[in-house]
Formats: sequence, C-alpha cells, structure tokens
Amino acid sequence: MRLAVCITGASGAPYAYRLLRALKGQAELVISPEGEEVIRTETGRSPKDFKSLASAWYANDDFHAPLASGSAPLDALAIVPCSMNTLSKIALGLSDNLITRAAAVTLKEGRKLVLVPRETPLSAVHLEHMLTIARLGGTVLPAMPGFYHNPETMDDLVDFVVARILDHLGVEHDLMRPWATKA
Ligand SMILES: Cc1cc2nc3c(=O)[nH]c(=O)nc-3n(C[C@H](O)[C@H](O)[C@H](O)COP(=O)(O)O)c2cc1C
Repeated sequence: MRLAVCITGASGAPYAYRLLRALKGQAELVISPEGEEVIRTETGRSPKDFKSLASAWYANDDFHAPLASGSAPLDALAIVPCSMNTLSKIALGLSDNLITRAAAVTLKEGRKLVLVPRETPLSAVHLEHMLTIARLGGTVLPAMPGFYHNPETMDDLVDFVVARILDHLGVEHDLMRPWATKA
C-alpha cells in the first residue's frame, strides 16, 4: 500500500507524529511552512524528526514530486492536521502548492483522501467546504477524540483520533480496540 501524509498549519501536530510512527516509515511526507511552525510550537520536535519517520519527503513547492502526478502510484493521502486554509483550497479545486495539488490528484483519480481539520467553532464557509469535500468523495475526519475509552493520558486522546485515521486509510493497527470488542 502506498501512502502519503501531509501536515499543514492547523493545531494538531502530535496527531501527525503519532500517525507517522504508526505507519512505520511507509508514508511519503509533505509539510507546509506553517505546518513546520506548528510542529515546533506544539511538539518540541523539529520538522526533521517528522521527516525521519517518512519513506521520502518533498518541499511544498516541489511540483516535480511524484505526488503531483496522477501517473504516480498512490493508494491514499491523509492531511493531518488539515488547516481550513488548505481544506478550503481543496474544496475549490485550487492547486497552488504540492499539498493542494496532491489532494486534487487524489480526488480526480478516485483515490482515498482523508482530511483531519481542527478548528472551532466552524463558520458556514468551513461547513460548506467540508460538505463539498464529502460530496467529492473525500473523508472529513475532524480531530475530535471521544472519551468512551476512558483516556488517562494525552497519548490516549491522540491515539483515538489516529486509530480512526488508520481505519479510514485501510491500515491495520492496534492503537485502540473497536468499541464492540472492548473488554
Ligand atoms: C500556532 C498556530 C496554530 C494554528 N491553528 C490553526 C487551526 O487549528 N486551524 C486552522 O485552520 N488554522 C490554524 N492556524 C492558521 C494556519 O496556520 C494558517 O491559516 C495558514 O495559512 C495555513 O497554511 P497551510 O494550509 O498552507 O498550512 C494556526 C496557526 C498557528 C501559527
């Protein structure tokens, strides 16, 4: 399975770090400049630490990267976290950087696109763009951890969201047991 993860400048960099670790080096990676800033603010790690968890990484202005072309094999793309800026551009069909181009390619090729926005409250503009993404076949998976698994740590909350992302990417994991089989 060929996967790509993109990180944009919304709050939620710990989700991306956990996701990259769970994917065990099998994902390609793009980080927007604002995504790099949020990584530094929220994780105390450097973008380099995130890149070291990927099979390859590309600059966000690199339109020659394989992710920019539908002819490059890719099964799924996850944007984690996804800023409202990037989500809105994707809904409008804009391709002004590698992340929005890769998302546009993923949609046009009928491949799996998972966007993990983090914003609150949501304006009508945000909601309309999310509806557009859903109608285009993308999955809008907000970073909204549940509490029914009785989280004790921040990692438990992060794992909740990352488990749902992996479920939607079709990647097996043991981050959380499904509710029905919970002991
Ligand atoms: C510390 C920090 C936190 C931010 N959190 C959010 C957020 O949670 N959601 C969001 O949509 N934008 C957030 N932003 C604003 C985005 O970074 C900004 O809209 C930027 O243009 C996004 O660019 P990108 O989509 O290319 O990454 C945040 C910015 C900073 C500096």
